[in-house]
Amino acid sequence: MGSDDFRESFLYKLGYIHVMIGLGFGFHNKGKPMTIAELKKEFPGPIIANVGFDADSAERELSEGGADLVAFGRPFLSNPDLVEKMQEGRELRPMLPMEYWYTSKENVWTSEGYTDLSVMDEPVQAKE
Ligand SMILES: Cc1cc2nc3c(=O)[nH]c(=O)nc-3n(C[C@H](O)[C@H](O)[C@H](O)COP(=O)(O)O)c2cc1C
Repeated sequence: MGSDDFRESFLYKLGYIHVMIGLGFGFHNKGKPMTIAELKKEFPGPIIANVGFDADSAERELSEGGADLVAFGRPFLSNPDLVEKMQEGRELRPMLPMEYWYTSKENVWTSEGYTDLSVMDEPVQAKE
């Protein structure tokens, strides 16, 4: 998080901590990024790791990295059946192009590509 007191914020009495450890959404340059191992020493509650995980890296994080849970965001947008696919070891549909993440058509917000993808595996085309 980009606040000046990010350490103090994270170490307050919280129910859980959700850590975007992949840094895939940018970083603030306000200090060395905290690691899950560092948090684990200070925080007794559940730690959720997030950003850029797939089934294999999530399993690794859970067994070696110290997180208690791993959260998935964008893989769910392109795979409404993400849980079943991961359980069955099936290939995931690739991440959707960014214009599908939040969509607005002529300034009207729509759910197209956001909540309406079928669980079928047809490819998703980039928008015109
Ligand atoms: C379309 C979209 C909307 C998001 N909205 C929020 C939000 O409202 N609050 C939040 O904390 N994170 C939000 N995020 C971040 C996700 O929760 C998650 O941290 C991020 O997608 C990284 O995980 P991933 O690599 O599994 O996608 C959003 C991400 C996307 C792609």
